[in-house]
Order: sequence, then structure tokens, then C-alpha cells
Amino acid sequence: MSDVLYINGRFTTTAERVIGVEDRGFQFGDAVYEVFKFLRKRPIFLPEHYRRMENGLREIEIRVPWDEGQFAEVVRDLLARTAFDDGIVYIQVTRGESERKHFYPDDLMPTAIVYSRAFDFPDAAKKARGIALVTADDLRWRHCNVKSVNLLANAIAKKKAQRAGADEALFIDDGIVREAASSSFFGVRDGGVITHPLDEHILPGVVRDRVVSLALANHIRVDERPLREVELFDLDEAFITSTTQGVMPVATIDGRAMRRGSITTKLQRMLDDDEVRALL
Ligand code: PDD
Repeated sequence: MSDVLYINGRFTTTAERVIGVEDRGFQFGDAVYEVFKFLRKRPIFLPEHYRRMENGLREIEIRVPWDEGQFAEVVRDLLARTAFDDGIVYIQVTRGESERKHFYPDDLMPTAIVYSRAFDFPDAAKKARGIALVTADDLRWRHCNVKSVNLLANAIAKKKAQRAGADEALFIDDGIVREAASSSFFGVRDGGVITHPLDEHILPGVVRDRVVSLALANHIRVDERPLREVELFDLDEAFITSTTQGVMPVATIDGRAMRRGSITTKLQRMLDDDEVRALL
């Protein structure tokens, strides 16, 4: 099935082959992407996703193709043309197309694509069951704060997780828990939450940020510090967060059961309410 696709100022569908062979996104992974969720055709946390995309593009010196207003308009047009009400929007901005050389021209016109896609968000049973993680070496580059399309290490780690019958990989870097392959990681200890501080080792998750704010607003302590791998099984609870999974309890890590508790379910409910509020 093809989806509605925006490319460089026009709409088509994903059935059309639109990317040139010499696009630097294809040749070098020279691109930034973004994913947001929409419900009832309304984007969730759109300004936060735009800001992260803009920061990432600036950091690797790709020209930002839209200001925030233009971007919101593209999203509005795309969702108006979309046949379903709930799903995700995928955005990718590459440095553009030019003869394959490591040195790139300074004045390239970026390639910008945006498309919507239906998505099976976790239902109540899945949200209660939680997910299984397996640990994996963090082999990513050192600018994980940029949402770059270079996801080879993430894809290989996730495949390893899948082969082990798990859902997600948890990146460990020299004994430090960073984040999961496509989600942020939180531990709960003594009624407070622990999550990695914002730096070059993790993606600044939009949902991570919402959950930190919700926790603080509800008098739940937040300790932004690197967690050591040896602390994992001392946690009272653990959960991951992402645009597609929301707050999702961690049931096992490397086959070992994690303790379960009420902080995760509380934050899960608060985030769901927060998303609904964003629609009003
Ligand atoms: N992944 N960390 C990594 C490495 C991620 O890829 C993601 C999101 C997150 C969570 O970020 P957010 O809360 O903004 O969704 C953390 C997206 C969903 C993906 O790659 O599809």
C-alpha cells in the first residue's frame, strides 16, 4: 500500500521513486530524521519534534528546509490528505544530491520528505505486559543527540534482541546504561526515577522530556545521572519511553524478571492524559 508523501514542496505517494542515487542521504547517511505521532489527525508534541530536528540539522550544517510555521503547514496538508486518523509521520532531511564525494558543496539544496503511515500503538494488554530487553554493546557514533539516519548499530542490536525473543536492545557503553536502540530508558529506585542526563550519548527523547516534566510536576524525584549496568537488577522498576511506545514497562532484561511497581503505571497514565490534552 502506498502512503501520501511530501517531497521538496509537492505531494505524491510513496509508490513514486523520488530519491536520486547520488542523494547524500543514500550514499553517506548524511541526513536527519524525525518521527511524531498523530491522533485524530492532530500531531502530538509537534513543536518539540520540530525543535529537535532543527537542532540536529544545524549541528551537522544541513540547511533547515522550513521554518516552524512552514513545517506545521506541510504537516497540516499531509494529514488532510491522509486516509486514516491515527498513525505516525516520518520526516527525513538529507544534505541533498551531488556527485558522490566525501567533500560536499556548501550550497546544496536539502532533500526533504515527509510521509504518514498507520501504526499499531500498544493496546492496554501490551502496556500492562511490558517488554523484554537484551543488553548490547553501544557501537554508535559519538553524536547520539543528533537523530541521524545512521542506524546500523541500532538495527543490528534490535535484530539481536529479536533473535533472542526480546523486543528491544539496551545499549551499554563501558558499564554505563545509555538508552535503548529506539527508546529512552528509565529506572525507578526508592520512589524516584533515574535516567541518563542529556548529552552526546543519548537522543533527547521528546517523551523522555515529557515524562521528566510530568514526574517533577507530580512530586516524583528525578535523578538525571548515568546508571551503571550493575545497578540494573537493584531497580524497583524500569521502563522505556518513545513516541510509538509511550511509557512501556520493562518486564525482563537478558531473561531476568524485573520488579514491577506503581510509578511506571502512574507515569504511563499521566503521559496518555498529556497526549489527550495536546489534542484539545
Ligand atoms: N525512536 N532513543 C533513540 C535511539 C530513539 O531512536 C528514539 C526514538 C528515542 C525516543 O525518542 P522520542 O521520545 O522522541 O520518540 C530514544 C523513534 C521512534 C524511531 O526511530 O522510530
